[in-house]
Amino acid sequence: MEKVIVWYLRMSVVYFVAGAVIGFFMIVSPDVSGYYVTSHAHLNLLGFMSMMIYGVGYHILPRFSGRNIYSPKIMHVQFWLANAGLVGMAIGWPLQASGGASLILMIASLLSFASIMLFAVNILKTIKAA
Ligand code: HEM
Ligand code: HEM
Repeated sequence: MEKVIVWYLRMSVVYFVAGAVIGFFMIVSPDVSGYYVTSHAHLNLLGFMSMMIYGVGYHILPRFSGRNIYSPKIMHVQFWLANAGLVGMAIGWPLQASGGASLILMIASLLSFASIMLFAVNILKTIKAA
């Protein structure tokens, strides 16, 4: 398995644990849970679920279609954008809720959005004409 794909899978598990830890603290401290719910949701859905799908997709889909990944370079760039974007969003939301860091959130959202677009292009081009 390609090294960067192993890292997609590893980071997915890291975000799952982080999402679960935050979820647990939200149960324990319901009075502040509102500050963290959006970070919790995205660590689980954009971190664990999407990152797992990126890794598994990049490994399996080229094999299903008997082709190489359209762009290994995009796969690497996307990895960094997805991680920087998600970490920025997960930190930015609670900060924004307490009155700051909107710029961090805006930049991080753009990085996350760019990473999703790169995945879309790379996977669609990979499975094209399968
Ligand atoms: C240890 C595991 C988990 C715990 C303790 C936990 C706990 C919580 C808590 C306390 C809330 C806030 C509920 C509320 O007051 O509105 C919440 C919301 C949420 N959780 Fe979790 N959660 C866990 C795992 C997950 C997982 C695995 C996912 C997704 C794959 C997930 C997705 C969500 C989402 C999307 C919301 C927001 C729902 C909304 O918009 O109201 N959670 N979670
Ligand atoms: C570019 C990537 C993304 C951005 C910028 C983004 C942004 C947002 C924003 C601004 C909210 C509203 C938060 C609030 O209530 O204050 C939200 C909520 C939510 N998003 Fe996303 N999102 C992204 C990707 C995703 C993906 C991929 C999923 C699911 C796989 C997802 C699931 C959710 C859910 C379940 C909620 C409601 C959670 C809550 O109650 O806080 N988002 N998102």
